[in-house]
Amino acid sequence: MEAIQPTLTPVVITSVSADAPQALIIAFCNREDMFSRGRLTAALSIVLASLFCASRSAAQDRPLRQSASERQFLIGAAVAMSPFRNEPAYQQTLGREFNIIVAENAFKWDSMHPTRNTFNFSDTDALVDFAESHGMKIRGHTLVWHNQVPDWLRNGGFSRDEVISILREHILTFVGRYRGRVWAWDVVNEAIDDSTAALRTSSFWYQIIGPDYIRLAFQFAHEADPDAILYYNDYSIEGLNAKSDAVFNLVRDLKTDGVAIGGVGWQMHQVNGFRIQPANQTNARRLGDLGLQISITEMDVRINLPTTPDKLAQQALAYRDTIEFCLSEPNCKALVTWGFTDKYWWIPGFFSGWGDALPLDTNYQLKPAYYSLRDVLEQGLDFTPRLTGVSREGKKLLVAGEKFESGAQLFINGEKQKKVSNDSDNPSTLLVAKKSGKTVKSGDIIQVKNPGGVGSNELIYP
Ligand code: G3I
Repeated sequence: MEAIQPTLTPVVITSVSADAPQALIIAFCNREDMFSRGRLTAALSIVLASLFCASRSAAQDRPLRQSASERQFLIGAAVAMSPFRNEPAYQQTLGREFNIIVAENAFKWDSMHPTRNTFNFSDTDALVDFAESHGMKIRGHTLVWHNQVPDWLRNGGFSRDEVISILREHILTFVGRYRGRVWAWDVVNEAIDDSTAALRTSSFWYQIIGPDYIRLAFQFAHEADPDAILYYNDYSIEGLNAKSDAVFNLVRDLKTDGVAIGGVGWQMHQVNGFRIQPANQTNARRLGDLGLQISITEMDVRINLPTTPDKLAQQALAYRDTIEFCLSEPNCKALVTWGFTDKYWWIPGFFSGWGDALPLDTNYQLKPAYYSLRDVLEQGLDFTPRLTGVSREGKKLLVAGEKFESGAQLFINGEKQKKVSNDSDNPSTLLVAKKSGKTVKSGDIIQVKNPGGVGSNELIYP
């Protein structure tokens, strides 16, 4: 590639913290001395700039969930209870960005059914309430899995019939408690063995109940909540391979037997460099032909540390591919990442030397991966605000409409109004101007502008 003569605009990087790559990227956006880092970095910074800068400047803080909701698409993340309870930034980011959540561990047997006769719903209640109070859906993960089976059950010496009745009681109690409040359940998780591409015979459930445990679990879940969408969830099944064939055969046979299965969850724990392939489309469509939806349920794209700008660019492509794929397949309903900030995340415990797999960094800063998700979610969407009405309430002026973004501004006769805020209950459809009710006059021209300057139609104050 020919050396390009740069147009430098000096920018000072105030601190080069552990998140240097982010600072580098911001520097890239300002085209600051990228060429001094050699041809490869120069080439990659152009990729980054085109991937990252254009959209960033346009609409700084439009959350993912806004454009996702416009498309009736679900964008979400797994929630870890400790930061959820103890770190305000964690909850705020969760509520701002996502319209669906799932518990990383709180819905599992060892967390919410710790002894034979006790259920612990404190975390599960907190998450379901949080989801509802933030207009989000919630996935229930997971009712039957070979991992995190509590000792009282695994080593309880129970008979087959006893385990079946314990399973039935667990599901009727748990799914029943959240009937109509949990959108989808991972009824069975990871029942196919990687090496044999057949049912995992080492599973506690297979050992005690036998292969029928899968059909029974779906039957009990459907009994407890006939409207919840019931999923089979697994990893390394998004492509075409022996394992995804085994899953296809399993869910096809369940459907044929009239079992109320509604979808297949592709966990998608990926290694950086991952790209969507035609096989993913073929696989999604054969499941669609069975009348099944798919969801990407646990996505992360782990980087071989240390993280560098090019690795972040590669990661951004993996997330971009995957959301483009999911939006293009009619039966793909959701993209959920397994966590959302690199600060809290399962992989270091499982894959040492790997990390930084999620769309936000350890300081909740938005990474190229985040911008990829947002760019694709926003493509083709119209974010122009529209005014439908204006009324005075004492000193206040109430402006009604749609697509008001956080930080939208109000203008009367072109003059920007002070003390204007999005209504807390209806942030995208009602603006409240604390003082403008005192000054507005009949005939005045009312207009709203979203951050980034997108202006609404004009209304004449009656
Ligand atoms: O709760 C105990 C705590 O009391 C104890 O002090 C601590 C120290 O040992 O362990 C805590 O339990 C840990 C639990 O996470 C809660 O943090 C377990 O040791 C640890 O093994 C468990 O790891 C979870 C793992 O599933 C279990 O297999 C990960 O956080 C969770 O991200 C991971 O999630 C799975 C999905 O459910 C299914 N798909 C793969 C995915 C990643 O493995």
